[in-house]
Amino acid sequence: MKILFVASECTPFAKAGGLGDVVGALPKALHRLGHDVRVLIPRYAAVDRRVFTALPAPLAVPIGGAEAWCGVLEGRLPGSDVPVYVLEHDRLFGGGIYDGFDSGHGLLRFGLLSRGAFQLCRYLGWTPDIFHAHDWPTGWVPAMLETVERRDPFLKAASVFTIHNMAYQPRFYPQGLLELGLPLEVFRPDALEDHGQLNPFKGGLWLSSMLTTVSPTYAKEIGASPGGSGLESVIQHRGDQVVGILNGIDEDDWDPERDRYLPAHFNAQDLSGKLACKRALQAQLGLAPRDVPLLGVVSRLTHQKGIDVLAKIIERVLGLDVQMVVVGSGDAELERSLVARSMVKDGRFFAWIGYNEELAHRIEAASDLFLMPSRFEPCGLNQMYSQRYGTLPVVRGTGGLVDTVEQCDLLTGRGTGFIFWDLHEDALYETIRWAVSTMREEPLHFRRMQRTAMHKKQGWDVAAKAYEAVYRRALQERRP
Ligand code: ADP
Ligand code: GLC
Repeated sequence: MKILFVASECTPFAKAGGLGDVVGALPKALHRLGHDVRVLIPRYAAVDRRVFTALPAPLAVPIGGAEAWCGVLEGRLPGSDVPVYVLEHDRLFGGGIYDGFDSGHGLLRFGLLSRGAFQLCRYLGWTPDIFHAHDWPTGWVPAMLETVERRDPFLKAASVFTIHNMAYQPRFYPQGLLELGLPLEVFRPDALEDHGQLNPFKGGLWLSSMLTTVSPTYAKEIGASPGGSGLESVIQHRGDQVVGILNGIDEDDWDPERDRYLPAHFNAQDLSGKLACKRALQAQLGLAPRDVPLLGVVSRLTHQKGIDVLAKIIERVLGLDVQMVVVGSGDAELERSLVARSMVKDGRFFAWIGYNEELAHRIEAASDLFLMPSRFEPCGLNQMYSQRYGTLPVVRGTGGLVDTVEQCDLLTGRGTGFIFWDLHEDALYETIRWAVSTMREEPLHFRRMQRTAMHKKQGWDVAAKAYEAVYRRALQERRP
């Protein structure tokens, strides 16, 4: 099959979170199954032009009642032959990925990307069977395919819309419809209209041929409130056309035996390199060089992630004689409180505010436990990276966390992490205390859990086969 991924992020070129990781890895797994997969993203200011080749002629994309002239760059997903196209338009794509995302700028920016997908295909003389769109930024794609683009050469194409996070649903003024060149007929409640405004997420849900989301448990959660963020009835309506497919991880990028960011390497048989990583991180961040449990956090600091609950019990947790490191950014208040605790130079806590890929890898490798007390979590990737690095996750039992972490069971000796359900300070504290005491008092059990976690198959191959089946079904449902 020919498949075009249209997305706002793609690792390593432009990433704000897990969406970028998925778009940077799933196409490679589909390519290995023999499909002709390509990716289209915008060129934000930070996307490095030098790793791409400019295609000769510019591309005209109808938008805002005129034509936007865009440059097109072509490159490859690292370590593969998967083509990546990058659409250039300084005014609409310059700046950061989600700058002004919920303003008219966000409407035009991702409207241009969505419409640009069709023009790019014409330009390349390459007609996809499937347009695969991701979350609200490219929620316009199914609407475009079903209306203004349902003509030659796209008469037989189908669309798949993947839900990464129902909680982000910007709404736009209705006139935006005309600016995007969409007909009035899609301004209706079973398409793009949402309380008098335009909601591209809703359009994606109603108008795509098939829907997927990133874990089986989240697929169930979004069919009810509050998981569905107001669109649960649409999910119910689409019924078995919503398929939960668990994300994988890029096992080349996240490999403790080869990770380029690590000062030492290790595997399930020999964890001595992990201890070396811990010592190096302690030295790098000014933590005491002590042999105590190290707790790691790599996270966006938003309501979703529950780090506010963790922040309230930091002193109690540090009272267990452990160390803690955090890398993240987001909520300003939370950032301030974490920085303030970092200022206490007692060698037990360090927070790095901002986005730091290298530090994220080093924390995953050096920590003994990884904390992820999410309020909700469509899939979550860090708990999977953690397991690959023998860093046992402490997670709340929600969404993909339920599907990827097995509860510690001291009786049977099974498990890969520690799960709690009630997002409450005491529940989180008690679960961390349980994990820390398991590490201290049941070292053989802890070691066994680490081995089980590190041996888990978490790559993309299983998911890629499931996506293949969804694409086939999308074509059946769509084609006359
Ligand atoms: P979400 O997409 O909701 O943020 P995921 O767990 O799916 O959650 O993915 C988050 C991704 O972003 C992971 O690859 C994680 O390592 C990365 N990440 C998040 N915050 C940071 C940060 N501050 N620095 C580096 N990487 C980060
Ligand atoms: C979203 C979700 C996260 C998921 C990621 C990739 O950002 O918040 O849980 O892992 O998308 O699908």
